[in-house]
Amino acid sequence: MALKSLKIKENIYWVGAIDWEERDFHNFEIVRGATYNAYLIIDDKITLVDTVKHKFFHEMVERIREIIDPSQIDYIVSNHVETDHSGSLADIKRIAKDAVVVCTSRGKSGLCKHFDCKDWEFKVVKTGDELKIGKRTLTFIETPMLHWPDNMVTYVKGDKLLLSNDAFGQHIASVERYDEELGVEEAIKWAKIYYANILMPFGELVKKKLKEIEGVQIGMIAPSHGVIWKNPGRIIEAYKKWADFEAEDKLVVVYDTMYNSTARIARAIAEGASKGVKVRLFHVRRDAWSEIMTEILDAKAIAIGAPTMHNTVFPPVAGFLAYMRSLKPKNKIGVAFGSYGWGGGAVKEINRIFEELKFDVMEPLQIKYRPTEDELRKAFELGVEIAEKIKS
Ligand code: FEO
Repeated sequence: MALKSLKIKENIYWVGAIDWEERDFHNFEIVRGATYNAYLIIDDKITLVDTVKHKFFHEMVERIREIIDPSQIDYIVSNHVETDHSGSLADIKRIAKDAVVVCTSRGKSGLCKHFDCKDWEFKVVKTGDELKIGKRTLTFIETPMLHWPDNMVTYVKGDKLLLSNDAFGQHIASVERYDEELGVEEAIKWAKIYYANILMPFGELVKKKLKEIEGVQIGMIAPSHGVIWKNPGRIIEAYKKWADFEAEDKLVVVYDTMYNSTARIARAIAEGASKGVKVRLFHVRRDAWSEIMTEILDAKAIAIGAPTMHNTVFPPVAGFLAYMRSLKPKNKIGVAFGSYGWGGGAVKEINRIFEELKFDVMEPLQIKYRPTEDELRKAFELGVEIAEKIKS
């Protein structure tokens, strides 16, 4: 095996797995793969925090075996039921037969729906509960909806180490295990993509939890995805900004096209706006939706364009609208545009979604069949108007 376990603190080891091949995480296009981080704490009571996706079970066990016999594990902390973290739990329980599973109450019911847990011993914990494992004491903080209702994080006080599960994670397969090795700004970039596609709907809960951990001394954050933060302040500050939807003077134009008409309108709007603000232009079938949502996270305005098909939105744009709607971006200016042949309907449906998201909706632009030079000028002027509104 190429990558061995890694000591991250005295007697605390990374024993996770790198998934170089995965490109889809429940429809979140992960263009550089993923990591499933599990951590092993050697103390009087040997504790494994989280596991890995099931197909990497043997890799995790090999890494544990470099350090101890896995049958000696006393506690398995399950911070989160989702199977990218719990997928190897049942198999490691078959080896560490007497290990007690530590999780939240919702965690227990979720785990028992995924696995046959009738013979498992559980220790159910809630925020503030502590578990002494020897020299160390583990403290648990529930983090519901970050990313499922069952989530919690585990704090190792003496080591000032926060084992944060999904929070502060990044979907990236890399040989680097620390933010400083990957490059802190590069790590922030991947964390932003992760936040935009997983945690964006939960900004208010993120802010509440960040407040709750304000007094906690954190020297290192070890999430269950991606690199470990030796600079926790940097990612905590970024999370505050993202949770607040702090935006820049930027327009994101997203479109699809049947016969190039909507594409030409999109380019004219983008060109008009580019004289005043930053512009990003995306084609919904050519570009990764995960990248589009990352740009939307901190954009002040979004223009979405689609041809009308069967009196409604062209299906690829409808799919993107469903994805965007589920992630609930906030505080945006919304502009719908598109071409149609006879009845129209696409811009009406796009506007309906903008209104549902409580966007500041501007007058849409609908153009019959192919745009004339005059109509393209109108699209350009719409871009100028969007830029002015962004800056006002
Ligand atoms: Fe990484 Fe919500 O699972």
